[in-house]
Amino acid sequence: MNLAERTRILTRPRRLRSSPAMRALVRETRINHDGLVQPLFVAEGRDVVEPISSMPGVSRYSVDAVVRECRELDAVGVRAVLLFGIPDNDAKDAHATVNYDPNGIVQRAARAIKDALPHLLVIADLCNCEYTDHGHCGILDPTGDVDNDRTLEVLAKTALTYARAGVDVVAPSDMMDGRVAAIRAALDDEGFTKTAIMSYAAKYASAFYGPFREAAESTPSFGDRRTYQMDPANGREAIKEVLLDVEEGADIVMVKPAMAYLDVVRAVRETTDLPVATYHVSGEYAMLKAAARNGWIDEERAVDETLTAMARAGADIIITYFAKDYLARQRA
Ligand code: PBG
Repeated sequence: MNLAERTRILTRPRRLRSSPAMRALVRETRINHDGLVQPLFVAEGRDVVEPISSMPGVSRYSVDAVVRECRELDAVGVRAVLLFGIPDNDAKDAHATVNYDPNGIVQRAARAIKDALPHLLVIADLCNCEYTDHGHCGILDPTGDVDNDRTLEVLAKTALTYARAGVDVVAPSDMMDGRVAAIRAALDDEGFTKTAIMSYAAKYASAFYGPFREAAESTPSFGDRRTYQMDPANGREAIKEVLLDVEEGADIVMVKPAMAYLDVVRAVRETTDLPVATYHVSGEYAMLKAAARNGWIDEERAVDETLTAMARAGADIIITYFAKDYLARQRA
């Protein structure tokens, strides 16, 4: 009697891994192609496509160029974009005034994209850090901390200008308390009942935003964001944040970053029936790119595995700088 006969293997899981067709037959998780969102950085100028060195393959676009990029995204099957505005540095002030300029960068980009591609879903990140001269996400109080309630006014005002420009979804990423309710009320008061809110409900004070801050020129000039963004050690607090945003009227809730917070994605998935999004952030993108460029990992396989892990954790929507590449590859 050989060893296998003696131990009598009753269950053989390998049977279901025997061929590509068998593996596909029993595969539990698939990435929702319709739920991949491409972030885009929009800057002033004409015909500008300026690569971001810490995010190979990602660029800042002027409004005309971003429309061209959106046509390419549309052609490969990207159905939603997330806009970040980068105003000129000399337009920034302590009150983020340019953020609610009806002719601001995000407002112009949204109008141009919706004109050219009405079916492409336009989501606008709603925050002040790219618009304040000090780089914090809101209006400062005399101690240098962000004044929560004064910041709500600016967010609500800005959300309205985004809605008027045709933005389908506003995505507040500032982590002020009460912002979802404030934005919802402002939108509804002006008749924008159809404009959706995707809240960055559990957004952590993360080192993985580094490359984004280079791209968006939004590094705080002093201090950090720990008095408003969450402590990475806290999982239960994420549920509290999510429940608050749901109560205040969020349509979609997000966990950010993604890779180091998949336990939080899973917990949020089990807490609410709302669609759950996760943001595969700039530093996570940069790490994968850097390792792949050094020949240390296979980029395609690593990206597939990473996005699959996010879906398996329970994310319906994945915001990722890889969206275009990933979908283009599925078509090829
Ligand atoms: C704005 C905002 C940030 C990101 C999205 N919205 C930066 C930050 O909070 O410092 C990060 C996105 C990324 O790293 O890809 N507040």
